[in-house]
Amino acid sequence: MRIVVLNDAESVAHYGANQIIETINKKPDTNLGLATGSSPIRLYQNLITAYQQGQVSFKQVTTFNLDEYLGLTGDHPQSYRYFMNQQLFNEIDIDLDNTFVPDGSTKNPLKTCADYEANMRERGGVALQLLGIGRNGHIGFNEPSSSLVSRTRVKTLTKDTVEANRRFFKPGEFQPHLSLTMGIGTIMEASQIMLIATGADKAEAIKNTIEGPVSAYCPASILQMHANVTVVIDQDAALGLKDVAFYQYIEQEQSRLQAAIKMAG
Ligand code: F6R
Repeated sequence: MRIVVLNDAESVAHYGANQIIETINKKPDTNLGLATGSSPIRLYQNLITAYQQGQVSFKQVTTFNLDEYLGLTGDHPQSYRYFMNQQLFNEIDIDLDNTFVPDGSTKNPLKTCADYEANMRERGGVALQLLGIGRNGHIGFNEPSSSLVSRTRVKTLTKDTVEANRRFFKPGEFQPHLSLTMGIGTIMEASQIMLIATGADKAEAIKNTIEGPVSAYCPASILQMHANVTVVIDQDAALGLKDVAFYQYIEQEQSRLQAAIKMAG
């Protein structure tokens, strides 16, 4: 795992956006896996700014979102489809037909999930998957105890997750307790994964992800088994880590190595 500890949330957003921009500029028809929630909002703002400044185009990009609430239509303000349109897609030059979010209004969730997987496969899979992380270590809506080889399916949200997301719903408004989510096995098939987290309330989950055992009780810990993962966090999210100094030292050594390779070549 590559662990990048930065000063603050803005640096995390900037770093994360740059990784995505580099990926697209290397391969303009790249397939991205995207996340919703608070964590990626600033990163998406950085992407919008880069697009406005002509540093990147999304014209040929295809996106697959991790998850959606079951029971919300795409025009519901709390649906993840609506979030993506508002926070990113409507502000860039992406073709909306190439943006995929599981259909929360489906009457046949099993078929919708199977079709979502088939579509991802047919389009060549995800090159770079962006992830946030729940306070309980969930990725997508794969809550603790999710099978580490699970596929896209219906998941029941924990009370903690429902509570954490209540802030987005009006008092008394229907808040779904079920979701459609890419499975952990699905996520692990991405060629590259970047998990971002900021704030002290993510410190425990980050500690368990990086330094804990691989366990279905902290779904993000499975990332230890992926060959190309970068965890990008701010100082607060790094508070629980035992070995931050070592992770920073590795980054410095890597930069030195890269510089030496560049000079030599
Ligand atoms: C959202 C998602 C979730 C969030 C996680 C953190 O698509 O997959 O796993 O990344 O719940 O949410 P925030 O960023 O709001 O703390």
